[in-house]
Amino acid sequence: MFLTKEEEKILSGERGEAKKKAAQLVTALGDIYGADKLIPVSSVQVAGVSYKTIGDAGIDFLNFFIEKKASVSIPTFLNPAGCDVEQWKAMKINEKFATKQKEILEIFSKLGITTTCTCVPYQIGIVPKKGEHIAWSESSAVAFANSVLGARTNREGGPSALAAAILGKTANYGYHLDEKRVATHHIKVSFKLEDQSDFGLLGIYVGKLVQDGIPAFELSQKASIDELKALGAAMAAAGAVALFFVKGQTPEWFTGNADKIEVEESELRTLKESLNTGHAPDLVAVGCPHCSINEIKKISENLKGRKLKKPLWICTARKIKKLSDEKGYTSIIEKAGGRIVCDTCAVVSPIESLGYKITATNSGKEATYLPSFCKQRVNFGKLEQLIE
Ligand code: F3S
Repeated sequence: MFLTKEEEKILSGERGEAKKKAAQLVTALGDIYGADKLIPVSSVQVAGVSYKTIGDAGIDFLNFFIEKKASVSIPTFLNPAGCDVEQWKAMKINEKFATKQKEILEIFSKLGITTTCTCVPYQIGIVPKKGEHIAWSESSAVAFANSVLGARTNREGGPSALAAAILGKTANYGYHLDEKRVATHHIKVSFKLEDQSDFGLLGIYVGKLVQDGIPAFELSQKASIDELKALGAAMAAAGAVALFFVKGQTPEWFTGNADKIEVEESELRTLKESLNTGHAPDLVAVGCPHCSINEIKKISENLKGRKLKKPLWICTARKIKKLSDEKGYTSIIEKAGGRIVCDTCAVVSPIESLGYKITATNSGKEATYLPSFCKQRVNFGKLEQLIE
């Protein structure tokens, strides 16, 4: 890989240990994937934030960068953490976990990272433009940024994203290149998808089918932003999709030589039945990916004047909750007994240790991960059904 004189100095340690480590990481990945050079990125999203997923070993890894006086050189923000740091008691999270989680966030903050803790940075004002190179790591955010915004990022891991943030650069390979942004499958859906959960179902179906391929969709309807978000998230979880096209909606759309595959409605119905492994839920969790203000509005309209019998978590970014507070949606939800939970979600928080065994969700991604990550049986359905 070609390196500039300055990049060579960084790699040899002339600019300090932290930058050297970051350069070693990024160039090692570049060598593995055949990158020709390093390229600047305009923003970084770092994953590996929840204490549940990184544990004490992760804290030690991060502390290395603190000891070496590292700091990020470009706008950098975070994926969801393991709990809402303000409402952890109400979530029934234990004190040890909450303390460790706060320690992790403090380390990130010392590195100069904005502790946004959301998987929808593009819904709180961080919106890269078409063709802009970024290094994001949460898989649904990667799928959305590449596909709906037309930005360019690989699925970064936590360490490689942190290294890119310190360097301000990533290796030029994969989805940064024109030649890698070509459809591998042409997917036709002739029936109507009724709501966001149907887009999640379609995402699971297609994710399993294409794995790390690039599906180009022809849909029979115009999808909303939240529906595209749900589709990409489910494909990223059930397969490893990082880029998809939707005819007439995404900035890039071409099918190349991909064979056309027609999805049947009955196949999604069968898939839905197989996801439903639990009946009466202990917890209803929505907001995977994190809810937009429109989704919260819809939930609050549904909850007006009602009383919930089971806990309802509505997961979102803190900035979106603030907007919901201002618009009066939060108080309607809270009066009904629901809770808007920030900074986290049902998958990356330790719900399996909170006594929950069956979790209901309207998210294809969450339905995919809850059984393995959180030992949950799943009740998958439309938002209105879950609320009922
Ligand atoms: Fe976001 Fe958690 Fe789902 S990180 S995409 S809400 S699993």
